[in-house]
Amino acid sequence: MNFSKRVIEWQMKHGRHHLPWQKNNNPYHVWLSEIMLQQTQVTTVINYFERFIEALPTIKDLAEANEDKVFKLWAGLGYYARARNMHASAKIIQENFNGIFPNTFEDVLNLPGIGRSTAGAILAFSYNQHYPILDGNVKRVLMRFHGLKMPKDDPQTIKDLWQIAEQLLPASKIRNYTQGLMDLGATICKPKKANCKTCPLKKNCKALALNLVNEIPSIKKRQSLPIKTKQFLIATYKGEIFLIKNYQDKIWQGLWILPEFQELQNTILYFFQQGLFKELNSGSRKTVFTHFILHFTYTHIELLKKPKKHYLGLWFDKHELQDIGLPAPLKKLLSQILR
Ligand code: ADE
Repeated sequence: MNFSKRVIEWQMKHGRHHLPWQKNNNPYHVWLSEIMLQQTQVTTVINYFERFIEALPTIKDLAEANEDKVFKLWAGLGYYARARNMHASAKIIQENFNGIFPNTFEDVLNLPGIGRSTAGAILAFSYNQHYPILDGNVKRVLMRFHGLKMPKDDPQTIKDLWQIAEQLLPASKIRNYTQGLMDLGATICKPKKANCKTCPLKKNCKALALNLVNEIPSIKKRQSLPIKTKQFLIATYKGEIFLIKNYQDKIWQGLWILPEFQELQNTILYFFQQGLFKELNSGSRKTVFTHFILHFTYTHIELLKKPKKHYLGLWFDKHELQDIGLPAPLKKLLSQILR
């Protein structure tokens, strides 16, 4: 039995069949799930996916939604460029494809935020088209199966793997095959502690035969993450809090965030000179992103006089914080501080 047959049979018996985006082959659902799953585990995605579809049931709804609503539905998932790209794509689909998700590889690949592997997965799951995928899990499965020891992110390696992935495609049952590769990577051919005993590919797996499962894919030495720092101000007045819409910084772009200290210095100085606020408390937090660590401090002041409008941002009632797109670490901090 060849590679793809084994994957398909295994998927039909042991793979995942009841994920919310598998109920029908609705391309919008498939697309949303594939984007959410790019950097995030299935268990986390399920709730976000269901909430998103309930709030915005069609591509048209997404295209017409305001940005805040989209970001709010994404808040906590991270990698917000994904939300921005989905929103932009929905507008393109509404405009150019009459609200129907495109069904050619070129059109799908042209949408913002969709790369070759995601385009292949979406076309396979939604339209039963035969395109290969090559995400991190699939790379690992293929490299182990073929006993490839070269660094996994090398451009030549990636080129070779795409060719292999293309050659392995089955003649039918592309949905089971594609899902099977993902399921194998997630549940059997795991980065550490692979379950080779129950693997449908164990008979022909080179890495297993050569005792190289733990050596493949070869891991590049990890450098320690750079540290960024920020100083946030929590300015409140009788249950209201001052927030700014972040268009400047790449971190948390498009979300509402706390103002950074230096941006507001003149205003604070003014209030300070007038004795118009009291400092309540301060502290620091750390949050880890994929490419850096953010250390931030916060200082909480309560204004003693009704604040003037400030061109940088808006005053929100603390109960409104649930309804706006706020990054998860700041949401958590504020819920603790404003309790
Ligand atoms: N990861 C990426 N796509 C997936 C899918 N369709 N099912 C499970 N995990 C995935």
